[in-house]
Amino acid sequence: MPDPAARPDDLRTAHPDSASEAGPKAAVMGWPVDHSRSPIIHRHWLRDLGLAGDYERLAIAPDDISDLKSILLDHGYVGGNITIPHKEAAFRLADHVDPVARDLGAANTLWFEAGRLCATNTDGYGFLANLDDRVPGWAAAPGKAVVLGAGGAARAVIWALLQRNFDPVIVVNRTLEKAEVLADLFGPRLVATPLADFAAAQRGAGFLVNTTSLGMHGASEFDLPLGGMEEDAVVTDIVYTPLETGLLRQAASRCLRTADGLGMLLHQAVPGFEKWFGRRPEVTARLRQILVDDLDPKTVEETQNRETRA
Ligand code: ATR
Repeated sequence: MPDPAARPDDLRTAHPDSASEAGPKAAVMGWPVDHSRSPIIHRHWLRDLGLAGDYERLAIAPDDISDLKSILLDHGYVGGNITIPHKEAAFRLADHVDPVARDLGAANTLWFEAGRLCATNTDGYGFLANLDDRVPGWAAAPGKAVVLGAGGAARAVIWALLQRNFDPVIVVNRTLEKAEVLADLFGPRLVATPLADFAAAQRGAGFLVNTTSLGMHGASEFDLPLGGMEEDAVVTDIVYTPLETGLLRQAASRCLRTADGLGMLLHQAVPGFEKWFGRRPEVTARLRQILVDDLDPKTVEETQNRETRA
């Protein structure tokens, strides 16, 4: 999804905390890619762990993505992250894909092994690790789960919920056909449901996640009513601008357990960093706060004003 709180600065040249030029280099690749906050995360870990290396942004136009492997080699990258709209292309272009990427038909993390371009998808891992971190025990008794939306993000989330044995997983979508495609793909534990049946879908559910852009800065408000879920149900959103979305506010007012979407972004970055730089980094409260400060609309505005004045 496009991030409306995007910061236009190019960290390759403008970030004051630039990591060393020496050491392995990786990048986030997409079109556009200005909005990506991945460089903030990886550069923080490089500094924190005292490692040489760098992590950049690289815009790759749709017409050029077929050259992905040579682009990586030409830039001297040891790998990188792939974001919208290239995740499916990266999956197709990799020399080797792991079972997770194959299940999802999309890749977000690339690295080289013996000259071969390898790919995986860490979005589902990030989703699970965030919930494990923020809502311990959230999947202790997996029952009925509701997934709102049936786009690319929904695929990773559904994969993750099936890993944790949720059954059934009700996929509620405005366009029913797209939910049906996912039900065909993931099998009988999935039930495709139109948005008109959202109220019925929630009844007795212990888990609900929004994977649509509803509630994101610049998109439509999340104004669908919650009701009928289990008393201790967990509600989460993959939207993280704003951090507290309309869905999460509504869930909190009903005393449901909630987790915001920022942690998914942080945790999905961990496996890639380990592949490229050789150490497994930690998602700490400090890193989270750095991202929260960066996402604050006031901070974005101040930064833009400062850049305009400079
Ligand atoms: P992503 O890859 O980020 O998931 P996407 O593939 O464009 O993005 O999917 C966006 C999802 O949000 C879809 O499920 C979409 O519903 P449709 O399949 O009917 O298009 C859903 N969505 C977007 N705007 C919506 C809105 N205003 N109301 C309901 N659903 C919406």
